[in-house]
Amino acid sequence: MNKTILRAEKINKDFSGVQVLFDVSINGEAGQVHGLIGENGAGKSTLMKIIAGFLQPSSGKIFIEGQQVNFKNPLMAKKRGIAMIHQELNLVEDLKVYENIFLGKEFKHRFLLDKKSMIQRSKEILKELGEEEIDPLEDMRNLSVAKKQMVEIARAISENSKILIMDEPTSALTEYETEILFKLIKELKQKGVCIFYVSHRLKEVKEICDVVTVLRDGRVVGEYDVSNVSEVELANAMVGRELGNMYPEKPEPSDEVILEVKNLNVPNFVENASFQLKKGEILGFAGLVGAGRTELAEALAGLRHKTSGEVFLNGKKVQIEDYEDAKRLGISYLPEDRKLHGLVLDMNIVNNITLISLEKYTRFLIDRKKEISKASEYKEKFDIRCRDLFQEVRYLSGGNQQKVVLSKCLEVEPQVLILDEPTRGIDINTKYQIYQFIAGFVKEGKACIVISSELQEIIGLCNRVLVMREGRITAELIGKEINEEEIILYATGIKERVH
Ligand SMILES: Nc1ncnc2c1ncn2[C@@H]1O[C@H](COP(=O)(O)OP(=O)(O)OP(=O)(O)O)[C@@H](O)[C@H]1O
Ligand SMILES: [Mg+2]
Repeated sequence: MNKTILRAEKINKDFSGVQVLFDVSINGEAGQVHGLIGENGAGKSTLMKIIAGFLQPSSGKIFIEGQQVNFKNPLMAKKRGIAMIHQELNLVEDLKVYENIFLGKEFKHRFLLDKKSMIQRSKEILKELGEEEIDPLEDMRNLSVAKKQMVEIARAISENSKILIMDEPTSALTEYETEILFKLIKELKQKGVCIFYVSHRLKEVKEICDVVTVLRDGRVVGEYDVSNVSEVELANAMVGRELGNMYPEKPEPSDEVILEVKNLNVPNFVENASFQLKKGEILGFAGLVGAGRTELAEALAGLRHKTSGEVFLNGKKVQIEDYEDAKRLGISYLPEDRKLHGLVLDMNIVNNITLISLEKYTRFLIDRKKEISKASEYKEKFDIRCRDLFQEVRYLSGGNQQKVVLSKCLEVEPQVLILDEPTRGIDINTKYQIYQFIAGFVKEGKACIVISSELQEIIGLCNRVLVMREGRITAELIGKEINEEEIILYATGIKERVH
């Protein structure tokens, strides 16, 4: 039978008097994948950080192989064989890939860093992850979010741990990379590693986990054997009530074109992209990581230089050279990487939300009251869970940070909203709210572009789907054609149609 490696017993945790975990107990067994699910802010990351020594519990005990431990820092946990893949990537942008992988555990040879071996070993680990094309000598900041996530995974597995914690490891990955990760998880399981797996993707939890613990508002509300529980039951346990259909009825787009893009080129990323977006339409962009979707969106938002191409808004040709141009024209972009482009982490919620639309609140002085009341509207609308609106966003849970960036994008009152992975790290209940919001938004005669690696989201939400592959739009899918199989066939290039 399986053997318990880790036991956390009656863990309580409060942050400056606000309790977020209540008597939480959880077991980890060798060769088992233990899922942990719950709504945004339920306390999943906090619990995992306590086990890995990044945070200390207010009370409670942790045992490893029957022996009580008291981790004061992550290094102590690491020494006992615990590694953690963080939800909010814990990498140093200014260092190289291999330096990140070996940070804090550098190979040394007679007091000198053994760079050669570290680079070699990095290559091997990345290869194991199917990421041969990541150069260990590349600067971290040049990698896409998905690749950064793969480096974060490489960093954790390089430690050969007995207990491996994965906090939403796939939220930035596409299906292909997820598959590779799952293969790896299965191998680690065979080797007797105990894995904790935090995710909002219930389908994945069903697929990869053996048991799953559900947290709600900091308390364990159930532990299930995965083979005996359905996705719907898990979702209901998380939310504490029955959930209905996730997706709103698809809107009816008008015939009026709101945005037209002709032959847009971004060197190395986008080749001759042309498409139209109608008023009232939700247009999806599907494709593999690196297909050029984000770069196309960034060019439309003035965040990336395009070498040629024309953009028309309501029939008029417009120039978008920088973000200010896009904002003035009413094009708003929710970036893929919320930490790098979306948020100022040490600023509070209110200031983050109004950051790029401050002029609305300023006559001679900034109207603080108005700002705060607007921020509370968003808090209500997207159920932002926080201590209060003046909390630094650094201390919000991952999903709640995402809700703040979304609010910030809406504050500019756009007519075209471009959402890049809008529900990354968002729990099922808030996802529902965001989908409802998008449907309502386009009903007002505006339009929305959704880039997502969650195919179900694209399928459930969009009127029309464009598939991109290697920088080109290779298919346009409408109506019944919008299904998983078709999208994958075009995204991988098995099927091709000149658009
Ligand atoms: N350092 C901190 N200081 C103050 N509050 C914190 C801190 N870290 C987390 N919290 C709060 O603790 C609660 C639980 O957060 P946690 O990050 O564990 O949630 P989560 O379940 O991982 O959510 P998500 O699905 O959004 O990642 C949240 O209300 C969060 O704001
Ligand atoms: Mg979390």
